[in-house]
Amino acid sequence: MTRRSRSTEGFFGRRHGKTIRPAQSVALETGLALYRLDLASPAPDALHSLFPAPVKEIRLEIGFGGGEHLLHEAAANPDIGFIGIEPFVNGMAKMMMALDRQPLANLRVYDDDAMRVLDWLPPASLDAIELLYPDPWPKKRHWKRRFISAVNLDRFARLLKPGGAFRFASDVDTYVNWTLLHCRAHGQFEWQARSAADWHEPYEGWPGTRYEAKALMEGRRPAYLRFRCNTGAV
Ligand SMILES: C[S@@+](CC[C@H](N)C(=O)[O-])C[C@H]1O[C@@H](n2cnc3c(N)ncnc32)[C@H](O)[C@@H]1O
Repeated sequence: MTRRSRSTEGFFGRRHGKTIRPAQSVALETGLALYRLDLASPAPDALHSLFPAPVKEIRLEIGFGGGEHLLHEAAANPDIGFIGIEPFVNGMAKMMMALDRQPLANLRVYDDDAMRVLDWLPPASLDAIELLYPDPWPKKRHWKRRFISAVNLDRFARLLKPGGAFRFASDVDTYVNWTLLHCRAHGQFEWQARSAADWHEPYEGWPGTRYEAKALMEGRRPAYLRFRCNTGAV
């Protein structure tokens, strides 16, 4: 078996879907030149300087798909900086078309494996990390491909400020249980559920995602997990 390169350590999905239209291709090129993070330079210690707009906190969304949630949040919260990561070219093209119509000064993106950004960002620099409907890998033999792992929770714990939030949504019961067990074992992620009901309650102002709409249509019930990162608890 060939060894996976460091740059794709955590990405097992598709990079390309339908052929990109010429207008999308132009938006992709011009948009990435403006919005893409440059990991060749070290991350600034003051991470808010990544954004042309003044921002009071910074959130990261991993695997934004078509960007519906990220665009909604970034437009609704101009004083919060958002970093969105998506290696699927068609998803990024959709995002860049939207940004061409409505530019946002509080948004930056990256178009490859999230691990690279996680290892690039400075410690205690994020207020929230969101993993919304990550690739589920339902077959047991593929569970090791899931984004949630002890190693990635270590990465999250390094990046979140004390008291920072980790939000995880999924419609796949085995992945929800997997995440609860990994977070409990990790020791720095405190599950915020107050009652059995509230983990089926969407997050405040939740606009939904494309993947979620499909899951609901197919009769699956999503779970919305909220964790507080207690840095230094271990
Ligand atoms: C099931 S889709 C969900 C997309 C979107 N969050 C939604 O709810 O519609 C999962 C997404 O995660 C992305 N993804 C998978 N592995 C990733 C990785 N290592 N880094 C960044 N994104 C990743 C995939 O390309 C895919 O678009």
